[in-house]
Amino acid sequence: MIVVRRALVQEHAALAALAVAAMRASFHWHPPEHWRADVFLADAAGDDLYAADLEGALAGVLGFYAPENFIHSLFVAPGFQRRGVGAALLTRARALATGPLSLKVDEPNLAARAFYARFGFEEAGRGEANGVPWLALRARS
Ligand SMILES: CC(C)(COP(=O)(O)OP(=O)(O)OC[C@H]1O[C@@H](n2cnc3c(N)ncnc32)[C@H](O)[C@@H]1OP(=O)(O)O)[C@@H](O)C(=O)NCCC(=O)NCCS
Repeated sequence: MIVVRRALVQEHAALAALAVAAMRASFHWHPPEHWRADVFLADAAGDDLYAADLEGALAGVLGFYAPENFIHSLFVAPGFQRRGVGAALLTRARALATGPLSLKVDEPNLAARAFYARFGFEEAGRGEANGVPWLALRARS
């Protein structure tokens, strides 16, 4: 059973490590060392962090920026992907939101784009960072 809950402060380092492992496994448009736990934690400073547990392990993390209903981060550990953990974290984000959810996804991230499309997100803008194009996505209200 997947349990989504508010993360404990003492779990933040482990959740950052989980996020970095997911990025290094999937985000091949930058070299592995580009993705760093300290950067993840600094970027997440304004977020509410949620953890997903599955089979007694940390399986996923959601970083939710409540003032903008913005999914700042959503990562599932490589060994737990495609088992509903991302969907469970997204369901929690929906429950927290006071308006349409939005997020950014790197354009080459076809797996995440398919995931968000499956849950009704649509393109709402574009940009570029560090030479990589990104898409702004917004949930259909
Ligand atoms: C993208 C990610 C968040 C999805 O979470 P997940 O737990 O693996 O996905 P779920 O099991 O909840 O998938 C739900 C549905 O989304 C779609 N989906 C998920 N991953 C997909 C993929 N790789 N390709 C196509 N569709 C996908 C499917 O419709 C899936 O349902 P199905 O498995 O019954 O076909 C997760 O794989 C992940 O962390 N990836 C690496 C990091 C990342 O890209 N994070 C998002 C940054 S914006």
